[in-house]
Amino acid sequence: MNENQHTILAQGEKNNTPVVGAKGKLVKILAPATVANLVCGFDVLGLCLHEPNDLMEIELLEEKKIVIVSADGYPLPLDPAQNTAGAPLVEMISELPGNIGFKVTIHKKIKPGSGIGSSAASAAGAVVGANYLLGDFFSKQDLVRFAMFGEKVASGVKHADNIAPCIYGGITLIRSIHPLDIVPIPAPELYVTIVHPQIEVRTSDARQILRKEVLLKDAIKQWGNIAGLVAGFIQKDLALIGRSLEDVIIEPVRSILIPGFDEVKLKCKEAGALGGGISGSGPSIFMLSKDEPTAIAVEGVMKEIYNRIGLAYHTYVTTINQTGVTVIDN
Ligand code: HSE
Repeated sequence: MNENQHTILAQGEKNNTPVVGAKGKLVKILAPATVANLVCGFDVLGLCLHEPNDLMEIELLEEKKIVIVSADGYPLPLDPAQNTAGAPLVEMISELPGNIGFKVTIHKKIKPGSGIGSSAASAAGAVVGANYLLGDFFSKQDLVRFAMFGEKVASGVKHADNIAPCIYGGITLIRSIHPLDIVPIPAPELYVTIVHPQIEVRTSDARQILRKEVLLKDAIKQWGNIAGLVAGFIQKDLALIGRSLEDVIIEPVRSILIPGFDEVKLKCKEAGALGGGISGSGPSIFMLSKDEPTAIAVEGVMKEIYNRIGLAYHTYVTTINQTGVTVIDN
């Protein structure tokens, strides 16, 4: 962390009064992409990435209103209530005394519908930036609570498995959202390779196709894997992490939306990846690797497959971001 980067208050901590503008009236924010679910942990596990990031500017207004600006002309909804950065701020200012508002300028680098937490980055970036300008009035847990209103705009449902890692950094377990109970999970340094095939999968659609009931035998496998994955992270047991990256409930349904999914998964593991699967609700696919050469070899496998299929794609080779949303300038 350099001198221009600042951490925010930990879970449960809260200042008594907003110190409006004490740290300036304008702040620049890097809001990172995230991988939700981590294969077996639908809606309860997520990790924060170093790349890609949205760039955002948050400015204090002396009026109780939210203004949204799309810097690159990207077609984002400009009505704050319909915008993933705006809806959380509408909630936040409703809990503030006096005439306080925010203007948010979004340089959208994480493509919506990519499966790497585009809506969460906007929501988390907005609330972290706004809170910075309020002298860290709200706790991290409050910020997650506000940011989930952005996820509701995006997918119709509040979930925190992108928001929490985006705000806390690292890997987080969302044990519960009612009440909010976020558990940071320590993990070994791992490399993450992502391929984003250039098709759009809307989270709301990818949720709608899921079965509403699961068989007990599948649930038993799934919670064994979730517990195994969390234990693997904490114990830095790479083999346990690898064999726990299995999803018998969501992936069999959603993977049909992603061309080449089965081949990517199989061949990336043959190339040395510990394992991986659909990132969030897709179409991005992520793979975890123990070191950079393996992560680069995995990227090569992904490229070869999508070149052959003839589908445009982006790839990223990155690592777990332990900081989350960062204030880069003020
Ligand atoms: N847990 C959510 C889902 C993440 O899979 O629908 C969406 O990014």
